[in-house]
Amino acid sequence: MTADALAELSRRLPDLRLLTEAGDLEHYGRDWTRRWTPAPLAIALPASIEEVQGIMRWANENKVAIVPSGGRTGLSGGAVAAHGELVLSLARMNRVLGFDAVDRTLTVQPGIALEAVHGAAREHGLIYPVDFAARGSCSIGGNIATNAGGIRVIRYGNTREWIAGLKVVAGNGELLDLNRGLIKNSSGYDFRQLVIGSEGTLGIVVEATLRLADPPQPSQVMLLALPDMDALMQVFALFRARLSLQAFEFFTDMALKHVLAHGAQRAIDGEHPYYVVTEFDAPDERAQEAALTAFEQGVEQGLISDGVIAQSDAQAAALWRLREGITESLAPHKPYKNDISVRISAVPAFLQEIQSLLTREYPDIEVVWFGHIGDGNLHINVLKPDTLSDADFIAQCEHVTKLLAQTLQRHGGSISAEHGIGLVKRAYLESTRSAAEIALMRGVKSVFDPNGILNPGKLFA
Ligand code: MLT
Ligand code: ZN
Repeated sequence: MTADALAELSRRLPDLRLLTEAGDLEHYGRDWTRRWTPAPLAIALPASIEEVQGIMRWANENKVAIVPSGGRTGLSGGAVAAHGELVLSLARMNRVLGFDAVDRTLTVQPGIALEAVHGAAREHGLIYPVDFAARGSCSIGGNIATNAGGIRVIRYGNTREWIAGLKVVAGNGELLDLNRGLIKNSSGYDFRQLVIGSEGTLGIVVEATLRLADPPQPSQVMLLALPDMDALMQVFALFRARLSLQAFEFFTDMALKHVLAHGAQRAIDGEHPYYVVTEFDAPDERAQEAALTAFEQGVEQGLISDGVIAQSDAQAAALWRLREGITESLAPHKPYKNDISVRISAVPAFLQEIQSLLTREYPDIEVVWFGHIGDGNLHINVLKPDTLSDADFIAQCEHVTKLLAQTLQRHGGSISAEHGIGLVKRAYLESTRSAAEIALMRGVKSVFDPNGILNPGKLFA
């Protein structure tokens, strides 16, 4: 049946590139989560919107599940194909389609890498401000599907703020042209925003019009060493009041240990439990003095133990590497990733509660903390010890995540701040969204995708 269905797809779309070699199935069937064994039916690499529509119509008629696929850098299993699905990779649809100087928008295909979007915006003297370490590999379509956040949310917000228009092929094969780059459009439901963050369950983004911004002022990058978690939020309040922040990211000594072992250079001597990399506008001497004053005040108040200011672009990049290299340095340890958020005002109380929870539940397991503390977003990575089997480790982590989800619920937080729910956090959706909301989400899904062929099992069971 499936071989017949594939033959029928090739008959209908003779120019469609289809891959069925074992190596390709393995490569395209997984994302950065390593928990599932890839087992897709085949990989389709359409080159046009018409081909995407053709695939969707074929999938509806043949009841074949589709897994939309971008750069597959996701961390929640959203792009995993482990049950005979057709992977629909947007890798060949990776071009810049146009720039409009008056609208200050860039129109792109979904498979373009975030870094290429940055480069294209810069060619016009502007920036696309969403940014994070996977910029070279992730695709803009995937960023849209997960409403990606990253390291500059504190200044610029999430992907959602930067999408002026979307062309989407819905689950039924219908092409939707959503918002068309309009700034003002008060004409009913905004399906563009519904698709952003829907994790490939409602439609496939086939074109995006991105808003661009003026480049920021010249900036400085500082690395701070802090004595404890309390100091972290106090230094954040101090710096936010005095400086115009572009980023405020934290990590622990455990995280530092791993990036240093992975080749990064130590920038501050001695042992310190917490670190912050912060970047702020520093266009003139006054702004630079304000930064120094804030730093000195932090030191006097015992909130900051040490610090360095980058003196060159190369030093700034080296300080950023300490933060941005963490994910890669942890990957060999098969981390179980928690990506949680609470309101900034709730962070101190929440931190206190979960610190004791995690110390109690993981007495002999290494837990690495880092993340976007200025957005109330923590990445808590639990590293698999050699003594535990993969299955026992996951079972233990799931048990703790359940407790973490209950604590989050009490503090009004979210079980996924920016990575998405995918497969990894599906069991905990109820901790963040009410039963009424989930029922509505299911209703929306069935309207966009009546045969349930788009990314089944992701987001919902
Ligand atoms: C990050 O902040 O570096 C990314 O969300 C990736 C990760 O959490 O590992
Ligand atoms: Zn992150």
